[in-house]
Amino acid sequence: MAKKIPIASDHAGYELKEELVRYLKELGYEPEDLGTHGAESVDYPDYAGKVARLISSGERKQGVLVCGTGIGMSIAANKYPRVRAALATDELTATLAREHNDSNIITLGGRTLKVEQARAILKKWLETDFLGGRHARRVEQISEIEAGEGRKS
Ligand code: RB5
Repeated sequence: MAKKIPIASDHAGYELKEELVRYLKELGYEPEDLGTHGAESVDYPDYAGKVARLISSGERKQGVLVCGTGIGMSIAANKYPRVRAALATDELTATLAREHNDSNIITLGGRTLKVEQARAILKKWLETDFLGGRHARRVEQISEIEAGEGRKS
């Protein structure tokens, strides 16, 4: 069964999001397109929440968000518990966002990336596994901060 990947954008990310929905299908995933569905101006936190809630609840393991720069989406998504949203600007940041940070949402800039770049970045992120080890300790430290316990170690 194809892996379900929720994806959403605001108006500034709409065109790239449409491209990435098609690309996810090409790659064999089942994208869940949570909007927006046109170029009309919308507020990115609303759409960040649609994907972030699914990741936060554990219903989905990975998600994609697109806005003009990817920055607003990452800031908003990271307010949800257990979300580690990473703005990926190139293939290296996409790789390291998975290997080191175990990011579960990738955010991309519709106004900063060409379609080909965005596809390559997304593919790299989807194909790369978390390395664990010392990186797992650091991710756990982030969870401790999130839980309001401060740093234990
Ligand atoms: C919308 O104009 C723009 O602010 C938004 O897409 C995003 O880039 C915010 O970070």
